[in-house]
Amino acid sequence: MYVSLQRQIGTTSSCRIPQVLTEARVGGRSGEILGLPFFVSFQVKSLSSFGFLLLSLLLYLIVFTTKSFTYQMKFFIDTANLAEIKEAHALGVLDGVTTNPSLMAKEGITGKNNIMSHYKAICDLVDGDVSAEVISTDFEGMVREGEELIEIDDKIVVKIPIIKDGVKALKYFSNKGIRTNCTLIFSAGQALLAAKAGATYVSPFIGRLDDISTDGVALIEQIVTIYRNYNYETQVLAASVRHPMHIMQCAEIGADVMTGPLSAILALLKHPLTDSGLEKFLADYQKGNQ
Ligand code: E4P
Repeated sequence: MYVSLQRQIGTTSSCRIPQVLTEARVGGRSGEILGLPFFVSFQVKSLSSFGFLLLSLLLYLIVFTTKSFTYQMKFFIDTANLAEIKEAHALGVLDGVTTNPSLMAKEGITGKNNIMSHYKAICDLVDGDVSAEVISTDFEGMVREGEELIEIDDKIVVKIPIIKDGVKALKYFSNKGIRTNCTLIFSAGQALLAAKAGATYVSPFIGRLDDISTDGVALIEQIVTIYRNYNYETQVLAASVRHPMHIMQCAEIGADVMTGPLSAILALLKHPLTDSGLEKFLADYQKGNQ
């Protein structure tokens, strides 16, 4: 039985090309072409079909290698403290900021006008996304607040809790192309629902899970796997990060973003051999350059 490559390619997505090649080996009357890495030989109807196949393979390689070379983990800082945000930004590694009502209260920011102008001050300090959380728990209230928040600055991402009306609000904002961060995620089911509703980010709280003897990093891994299974575009934002090991574990798993305190980011710098090595380099320099 002859299998037309043209037809197979036309109906098969690029990620299934090896399967196309397997199927293409089934019989045929045209010429045999050797030398592709997957199999010794297979049949093609014409040279143009083969050219089309090669082009598809090339596109497949370009898309996947480009993605793996350009995709980087983002670092957000989890604070409403302007001095800390400035310090993290000055390091040159800051991609955004997350806040929540507790963090705003910690800085003594109260009253709608002050809260709005504080978000603006944060946006003016950074180049990336700034999550600002709604206080309402009903759909209409979340929509109203979210629409006010996005007026502050293009960098604002509307932060919405994973509750029933929150899911509706995520869908509403997603339909309007407004970016959201779905917060207070403590299970993979919640993360799946948020992704289906079109959340831009989900924030699973790993530190708070660790606090109750539940493996927070394992939850990140589970969500990353689920999203990859179905190519959800929702980004996994590992939140409630407490220390540098959390950051490294999230990086190994492939979390898209982590948000944590400045102390956790700066702790990545620390190694006693770096300190003693630098001390010795400087001492040796001083000896010869008095
Ligand atoms: C997430 O966006 C939250 O603001 C935050 O990460 C919660 O962290 P915490 O558990 O340290 O309060």
